[in-house]
Amino acid sequence: MNKIKVGILGATGMVGQRFVQLLENHPWFEVTELAASERSAGKTYGQVMEGRWKLSADIPAYARARPIKECLPNLDCKVVFSALDADVAGEIEGNFARHGYIVSSNARNYRMEPDVPLLIPEVNPEHLKLVPLQKKNRNSSGFIVTNPNCTTIHMVLALKPLMQFGLSQVMVTSMQALSGAGYPGVPSLDILDNVLPFIGGEEEKVQSETLKLLGSFNGAGVTNADMVVSASCNRVNVNDGHTEAVSVRLDKKPSLSEIVAAMEAFNPLKELKLPMSPDHPIIVRRESNRPQPKLDRTVEKGMASVVGRVRECPVMSYKFTVVGHNTIRGAAGAAILNAELMKTQGYLE
Ligand SMILES: NC(=O)c1ccc[n+]([C@@H]2O[C@H](COP(=O)([O-])OP(=O)(O)OC[C@H]3O[C@@H](n4cnc5c(N)ncnc54)[C@H](OP(=O)(O)O)[C@@H]3O)[C@@H](O)[C@H]2O)c1
Repeated sequence: MNKIKVGILGATGMVGQRFVQLLENHPWFEVTELAASERSAGKTYGQVMEGRWKLSADIPAYARARPIKECLPNLDCKVVFSALDADVAGEIEGNFARHGYIVSSNARNYRMEPDVPLLIPEVNPEHLKLVPLQKKNRNSSGFIVTNPNCTTIHMVLALKPLMQFGLSQVMVTSMQALSGAGYPGVPSLDILDNVLPFIGGEEEKVQSETLKLLGSFNGAGVTNADMVVSASCNRVNVNDGHTEAVSVRLDKKPSLSEIVAAMEAFNPLKELKLPMSPDHPIIVRRESNRPQPKLDRTVEKGMASVVGRVRECPVMSYKFTVVGHNTIRGAAGAAILNAELMKTQGYLE
């Protein structure tokens, strides 16, 4: 099979380097272009990433000698994965889509646009039907598909199997890893021995994206899910892996064992066998001290959401903790999985 040529926009950042790592030897995609700001353009990836590569395995050989280009729509590829800073992603991604590229984006800029899919393949694959509408609205041969915020995605994966029980209210308190703030991110003197109780814009993203993701495609757009979500987001002194304490109100009053069974049985992509797809999207741990980011963030190569401490809630119906990797399933891995789903559905033809 001829591999599809892909580029990475923002290849030098925290999420960009995850793309570089996860796309090495991908069975369907071949990275032909790496791009970043004009500060990095013109140098090789190896030169720019000296001291900036933060992953435990080395820079893949395919990327090291490759020149970094500017984020202009003259790249030799069909799909671009975007790990761009949100300050510039709106203009650059829009420009690529107008020039016929398929953009799989991590940035927040287009997530809530009515004609742009905000996609988790296991949760709302039918939202890809927004693509023809987007191309028509924008008179564009390319298009943009987005993945959710890194906190939203792990919570929504755990919530989707609970929709059948009449999910009407969600309260979530997040404890978010440092890599989620990019590089260099939060100053060490602010976070050592500390918890920061505010992450700009994060609570609003979790609250609004959840309703779109769990909403339904109505033929002309997405009708938001009929529920309320309240989020409190905190930055904690953890390298990778977000932890979230979630309480849910379930109007149909299922038993605790029904909830756990629904989460464990949830595997809608099983038959598709997508390369990045985890064997089990939700893993439920029974131990009282799990999940923990240090122990559970890399299970299923960082693509699963690990749930534990499922129990009754005296205020809502039930509560649980979910942990997931923020730069793999929460960012680069999510965008690659979205592109894999698009390929199987004919959107990359
Ligand atoms: N970190 C996470 O866990 C996470 C999770 C989900 C979503 N996201 C989203 O993913 C995106 C990237 O996040 P990050 O944490 O990887 O950020 P980051 O480490 O700060 O990287 C930002 C990237 O954007 C590039 N860039 C900045 N200004 C540019 C410009 N004017 N033109 C072209 N490229 C430019 C940078 O290139 P230079 O190196 O050349 O400056 C760098 O490659 C953000 O939109 C973020 O909100 C992050």
